[in-house]
Amino acid sequence: MIKDDQVPITSRVTLQPDPRLLRSLGRNHDLPSALADLVDNSIDAGARHVRIRFVRRDNRLVRLYVTDDGRGISSAAINTAMTIGGVRRYGPGELGHFGLGLKAASFGHADELTVVSKTADGSYTGRRWTLEGAQSGFECDVVDQDFARRELATQPPAAGNDSGTIIRWDSVRTFPVVHDERETNRFFTETVEKLRRHLGLVFHRLLAAKVVEILIDEFDADMDAVGSAVPVESLDPFDYAHSGHPEYPKTLQVVSDPPHQLVCHLWPPRSTTRQFRLNDRPERHQGFYVYRNGRLIQAGGWNGVIHDAKDLQLARVVVDLAPGSEAHVRLNPEKSRIEPDESFVRALQQAAGEDFTFDDYLDDARALYKRGRRREAQRPRVIPPGRGLPPAVKRALRTELRPIPNEEPIDIRWGRVDGDVLFDIDRDARQLTLNRNYRTVVTGSTTGSLNDAPLVKTCLYLLVENIFQGHYMGSRDKDNMDLWQSVLTAAVRAQQ
Ligand SMILES: Nc1ncnc2c1ncn2[C@@H]1O[C@H](COP(=O)(O)OP(=O)(O)O)[C@@H](O)[C@H]1O
Ligand SMILES: [Mg+2]
Repeated sequence: MIKDDQVPITSRVTLQPDPRLLRSLGRNHDLPSALADLVDNSIDAGARHVRIRFVRRDNRLVRLYVTDDGRGISSAAINTAMTIGGVRRYGPGELGHFGLGLKAASFGHADELTVVSKTADGSYTGRRWTLEGAQSGFECDVVDQDFARRELATQPPAAGNDSGTIIRWDSVRTFPVVHDERETNRFFTETVEKLRRHLGLVFHRLLAAKVVEILIDEFDADMDAVGSAVPVESLDPFDYAHSGHPEYPKTLQVVSDPPHQLVCHLWPPRSTTRQFRLNDRPERHQGFYVYRNGRLIQAGGWNGVIHDAKDLQLARVVVDLAPGSEAHVRLNPEKSRIEPDESFVRALQQAAGEDFTFDDYLDDARALYKRGRRREAQRPRVIPPGRGLPPAVKRALRTELRPIPNEEPIDIRWGRVDGDVLFDIDRDARQLTLNRNYRTVVTGSTTGSLNDAPLVKTCLYLLVENIFQGHYMGSRDKDNMDLWQSVLTAAVRAQQ
């Protein structure tokens, strides 16, 4: 009798893959993750500068370049580089992995991929894959060397360097097809924003350490003119002004092979910064931030260790993958997520420090979130400030205090005030006026601007905001006003 846990075999047949399978290659890549894969290659090649360039013709985007000043691809190496799944030996710090990124990222978006490259010994080389050629028997085109030379002489930053590589996409399927200026502008602006966010996040460590600089621009082929380049800035998901809890971040040990560490952070509650929001609901970004060689692979998510929960939104954990972790932690092909095996998930669950466990951390995260909510509920609502304060202060106030709905904001400005007192309030006009005679003393400068003296204005706002509420000024309010006026006027004069 045959046991059913063994599948019986009689013989073997060879089934070659159909080249048409290439159609499905890279389809899970959106444009930002595809370009991140190309930037990985540039960084592996030691590039200091990467330029992403969109080319516009007849009011339509027609081509894309990713150009770097890395060490380039030699004519001996280019065939392997263009081979789908062609892996080479990787150094310890490299971002390459599957031998697939360049081809998958490109075919996911374009029907034509051209690679031209120059190396420091002065040689030029180039190959082109068209989706059609690849599908009819993996036929790859050899690019004319003069063309390679011309391209490399015109595209920065390769143009200004001895070596470098251009990745060029033509027939890009994911660009809008209409010849419409407004539609093209809209797409371009949105795409640049998405790219800055994604690349800024994925490469935030490398950008902050100035390992690489990434610029995005647009070339208008009809006008023969380049628009201004937009830099990708580091977007650090751990960049809070101060920790949400004085004892954090805390480090836990993961008993895995090789061993890992969890650096557990707690964000301060209710942050409105880009670094916390990451352009989404904050509860979407809790969990593990997994890095491989300084590149962020996964931005949040608990990988089956626990479930997402609203009250864990302040919890973010740094995991740096150790060399040799590949046996237990795989990357998905888009390099946007790790796929840990069961033993690694268990090791994560059991991560601990001295008398401190992963569960304790989660408890602290929940408690902090709850405290933040309670504090918010107990605080009285306020009339928000209007003109006169810098945006950063208004943002901070919005984070801490909830506004009373449908109230005209309070403008804070310098102006004429009767007598020598520091300020005056006009409840009906919703104005807090600072005595302009003290402006130079307070700001230390004779030329003022709308949002000057933020410290004094903010303190005054916090002091008097309550007076603007309600229909009349009670005796308590009047007495407070008298108190503040006499003390603060003495103070500003002492500063004179
Ligand atoms: N910008 C570049 N500069 C130098 N070499 C490159 C560049 N892009 C790709 N390559 C070469 O092509 C190879 C294949 O790239 P890719 O398909 O992304 O796979 P992987 O990065 O996993 O090796 C790389 O290993 C590298 O040798
Ligand atoms: Mg790669």
